[in-house]
Amino acid sequence: MSHTDRLAIITGANAGLGFECARSILGAPGWQVLLACRDLEKAAAAAERLSPGTRTPRRVHVGHLDLGSLESVRAFVEDCGDRELPPLAALVCNAGVQNVAGTRRTADGFEETFGVNHLGHFLLAHLLSPMLAEDARIVFVASGTHDPRRRTAMPAPSYPGAAALADADAPLGKTTDPAELGRLRYTTSKLCNVFTVYEMHRRLSKASSDLRVNAFCPGLLPGTGLARDYSPLVRILWSYLLPVLTLLPINVHTARRSGRALARLAIDPSLADASGRYFEGFAPARSSDLSYDEDAALELWETSVALTGLDSSKTRIA
Ligand SMILES: NC(=O)c1ccc[n+]([C@@H]2O[C@H](COP(=O)([O-])OP(=O)(O)OC[C@H]3O[C@@H](n4cnc5c(N)ncnc54)[C@H](OP(=O)(O)O)[C@@H]3O)[C@@H](O)[C@H]2O)c1
Repeated sequence: MSHTDRLAIITGANAGLGFECARSILGAPGWQVLLACRDLEKAAAAAERLSPGTRTPRRVHVGHLDLGSLESVRAFVEDCGDRELPPLAALVCNAGVQNVAGTRRTADGFEETFGVNHLGHFLLAHLLSPMLAEDARIVFVASGTHDPRRRTAMPAPSYPGAAALADADAPLGKTTDPAELGRLRYTTSKLCNVFTVYEMHRRLSKASSDLRVNAFCPGLLPGTGLARDYSPLVRILWSYLLPVLTLLPINVHTARRSGRALARLAIDPSLADASGRYFEGFAPARSSDLSYDEDAALELWETSVALTGLDSSKTRIA
């Protein structure tokens, strides 16, 4: 291990895209990773797969982070501050859920899709920001499903305001079907990720900060754990049939390939200046028309500050 190593924190890195991103970052010299996971046993098993044996110099760290608990987010950040870790140069906000079997709530009582995919990461990025290196990068994993023009077979997001999204009892769109509601909450949470990136970038630019923030769409990644809430039949299709589509020249990929693209956005020197952008795999792309609504992004930001109880003295991204 070199004294000049840098650290990348990746949320939800025990499986799927996050795991592959960690693997790819470890392939670059001078980088260490911290797998921020809600299940420490799974995190330790992932760390072992990434860095087998005990003789390997320790480049893989694990930390407990449940994004569905604001207390857990705060405890995770405190724990990072207490540990001897290399300078934090990248934060990859990757963890995510898609609930189609009914409404779930976070420990704080928020609707879980919004709470985990958006709010938890929002607070995490703010509380970690004082520890980030001057020119560090933050990447939010969004999804092309936030954009109705992409024809992803997912419902178009509906943005009624952040307080309504946080309220697990509030209606969303016109649907009452639990599966469709879950899918709608998912695409809307991914729109929130893009809003957050654009608003964060505006604030960083205004403050002449060298921190960089971008959104990332990995494409469709059949076979990952994201479909765990679906019926057994859908899960079989997801795991065994849909992966065939990765052979076609469409936006369907293996987690390994998209993990490489995500790692590139987080650490590749050639992208050092990229900020406030939306990447689809390896290439910059346009996000949905709605995602450029600055008033909605500002409302999401300000309401998220209130919902998370963020203390402005604890963040570098004011
Ligand atoms: N798969 C796709 O087609 C696709 C397409 C576009 C975007 N994405 C996005 O890519 C990201 C990764 O998804 P994936 O496909 O790799 O799915 P995945 O295999 O299910 O991975 C999701 C990760 O998030 C973690 N996670 C869930 N809830 C959490 C919480 N409360 N606190 C901390 N970690 C939590 C999971 O931990 P456990 O293992 O403990 O549950 C898991 O490590 C997500 O943001 C997803 O929206 C995926």
